[in-house]
Amino acid sequence: MPTPSKKTPKKVAKRVTASSRNAKSTSATIETHLHENRTFPPSAAFKKQATFAAAANYVKAGRSPVKFWESMAKELVWKKRWTKALEWKAPDAKWFIGGKLNVTETCLDQHLTNGNRNKVALIWEGEPGDKRVMSYYDLWREVNKFANCLKGLGIKKGDRVAIYLPMIPELVVAMLACARIGAIHSVVFGGFSPESLSDRINDAEAKMLITADGGYRRGQIIPLKHDADVALASCPTIEHVIVVKRGDFLLRFKEGRDHWYHRLMQDADPVCKPTYVDSEHPLFILYTSGTTGKPKGIMHTTGGYLTGAYATTKFVFDIKPDDVYWCTADCGWVTGHTYVTYGPLANGATQVIYEGAPDWPDPDRFWQVVEDYGVSIFYTAPTAIRAFMKWGKEWPGQHDLSSLRLLGTVGEPINPEAWIWYHEIIGGKRCPIVDTWWQTETGHIMITPLPGLTKTKPGSATQPFPGISPAVLDENGKPVKNGGGLLAVTHPWPGMLRGIWGDRKRFVDTYWSKWDGIYFPGDGARIDKGGYFWILGRVDDVINTAGHRLSTMEVESALVEHPSVVEAAVVGIPHDLKGEALAAFVTLGPKQKADEKLIGKLRDFVALKIGALAKPEKVIFAADLPKTRSGKIMRRLLRDIASGKVLGDTTTLADPAVIQHIQRRYSEE
Ligand code: WT7
Repeated sequence: MPTPSKKTPKKVAKRVTASSRNAKSTSATIETHLHENRTFPPSAAFKKQATFAAAANYVKAGRSPVKFWESMAKELVWKKRWTKALEWKAPDAKWFIGGKLNVTETCLDQHLTNGNRNKVALIWEGEPGDKRVMSYYDLWREVNKFANCLKGLGIKKGDRVAIYLPMIPELVVAMLACARIGAIHSVVFGGFSPESLSDRINDAEAKMLITADGGYRRGQIIPLKHDADVALASCPTIEHVIVVKRGDFLLRFKEGRDHWYHRLMQDADPVCKPTYVDSEHPLFILYTSGTTGKPKGIMHTTGGYLTGAYATTKFVFDIKPDDVYWCTADCGWVTGHTYVTYGPLANGATQVIYEGAPDWPDPDRFWQVVEDYGVSIFYTAPTAIRAFMKWGKEWPGQHDLSSLRLLGTVGEPINPEAWIWYHEIIGGKRCPIVDTWWQTETGHIMITPLPGLTKTKPGSATQPFPGISPAVLDENGKPVKNGGGLLAVTHPWPGMLRGIWGDRKRFVDTYWSKWDGIYFPGDGARIDKGGYFWILGRVDDVINTAGHRLSTMEVESALVEHPSVVEAAVVGIPHDLKGEALAAFVTLGPKQKADEKLIGKLRDFVALKIGALAKPEKVIFAADLPKTRSGKIMRRLLRDIASGKVLGDTTTLADPAVIQHIQRRYSEE
C-alpha cells in the first residue's frame, strides 16, 4: 500500500515579498502561492505489474518522440504502412503519411482472431436498470450492419453525420459505423438544446442525423426526437434521420426522411467491407464551446488520433485483459470519443457504460455499478468527485469497492482536498490516481502520471506522457523554470487537432498566434522545481489584482480546504484601487451555517493560506454553482453577476435555475 512520504500534510503559504512582486509583474506570468507538498510514490505491488514502469523507456521516448509514436502506431492494424512519420509545417502537422487504414479494424476486426472474439466489449446499464452485454463479435456485427444502413441511405466517404443520442450502445455503434465507411461523425451531446444541435448540424453541413426517441436522466425522459425535429426545421442539409427506439416515447415520424434503426437493421447485409482511408482523412468533428463566440468544430484525423488514443489508454490506464474499465464520460464529449469508443476498443478492453445520472435513484448509483461489475479502473471528473464529497462518504461506504485498482480524473484542476478524498474514500488508499490534462483539441491525454512509474502530488497532473513536449512559457516565449506562466506544447503530437471546421483563421488565431510554431492551449500552469506541471485553469480566469496575476483556481482550492466549504468559484470584479478585486461564490457542506461570522472566517482563511492579496472582497453563499453540461464552472457568468452586467450567453448552462438563484442571493447582499 502506498503511503505518503511525508506523514503530516503540510501546505506552505508563501508570503509575497516586495522583491518577488517586482520580479513577477514585469514578465506578466501568473503568481502561484499554494504549494502542495504531499507526495505518493507508486506501491511496489502496482509497479511490479505496470505496463509502463521502465524509467529508461520514458527517457528514450523523450529523446526521440517521433520514434516512440511510430512504435505505437505499429501496434495498430494498417492496410498500408506509412512512408513518413511526420511532416510539420507549423501549424499543420501530418502524421503517418502514405499510411492507409480503417480504425474499425483495430477496434473490432482484429479482435475476431486474436482471442477476444467472445470477450465482453461493452457492459451497458441504463438508468432505469436495464442491462445489455455485447461481445467483440456482437459489436462487430452490429457495426457492419449499421454501416450498410448508412450506405443504403446514401452516406459516402467524407460525408458528415450528426449523432444526437443518449449514452446507449448504439452511440458507440453509430460512431464506428461512420468510421467503417469513411464518413465523418459529429456527436452532439444529448443534453444540448435544439438550437445548439441545429447550429452544429449547419456548421458541418451534415447529411444525416442519428437520434433516439428519447433518453433517461434522473428519472425524466429527455425527448430527443422531439428536440431534433425542432432543430431540423432549420437544417436544410439533412436528408435522412435514423431513430433508435430507446423507450416507448411519443414521437412524430416524417415519411421518407425518418427511419427506425431496428427496421433498417432487420434487412441490412451482415458484412460491410471497411473503406480504407489515408492516415490524414478526417475521422470526426467535435464542437467545443469557446469562451466567446460560436462553438468551434475541432477536427481530428485518423492514423495519428488512433495512435494517441491507443497508446495513452494502454499506458495511463494500465489496461490488462482482466480489467473492467469504466470511464463515466458521455460520448458527447471528447473523453467519450477517446476513452470510451476508440482507446478502450483498440486495446480490446472490457468496459462499463452507464446511461444516467450519478445520484439516481440515490447518490450511490456509481458505487453500486462498481460493485455489480467489479470495476477495476475508474475515470471521472473533479466536479463529480466534489459532488460525491458533498453527498457524504456514507454512500460509497455502503459498497464493496475493493475491485478498484486505478483511479483517474480529467476536465478541471482537481483541488488537493478532493484528490485526497478520492484517494482515501474511493481508492481505499491503495489505488494510484492519474490526473490527466488534455483538451478536445489535443485529442488524447498529454500530461499525466504513469501509474507504477510516477510519484504523484495531489493537484498536479505531474509530467508529460512519453513523446509529448509541454512547457511553461512567459508571454515572450521564454521558459519559466520554476513558477507560473502559460502552458504550451512545443512539438507536434499525433492526436493534435488539424483545424477548426471551416475556419482557418480562427484556428491560427486561437492556438498558433502567441508564439511562433508553438501550440497555446489557453491554460495557465505552474512548473515546480521537480519539473511537475500544475494546471491553473483557463488564462481567461486569471485575476489581475493590485498588480498581481492570480489564478482563481488556487484561491478556490484554498477555500475548499476550509472544513465548511465543498465547492468554490472565484472571479474578478472591478475595483477602483486594485484594478480587480476577488469575489468568491461558495457552496457549503451539509449543516453549515451561512452567516457573517463564517464570511469573516473564510476571508481570513484565504489570507492565511495564500496572503492578504487574495482575500476575497466579497463572499457569496450559493446552494450550487453554474456549470456547463460537462461540469465546468462558468466563471464568466458569475463575473457578469458580480460586476452587475447583463448575463452573457447562457445556452451551455446545465441548469439555468442555479444562476437565477445566485442572482437573487447576490442582489440581497
Ligand atoms: C480544458 C479542456 C480533456 C477532456 C475533458 C475536457 C481543463 C482538463 C485537466 C486537468 C486541470 C484540466 C483545461 C483544459 N482540464 N483536464 N487534469 N487538470 N485542468 O475537455 O472541454 O476540451 O476542456 O479542461 O482547462 O484546457 P475540454
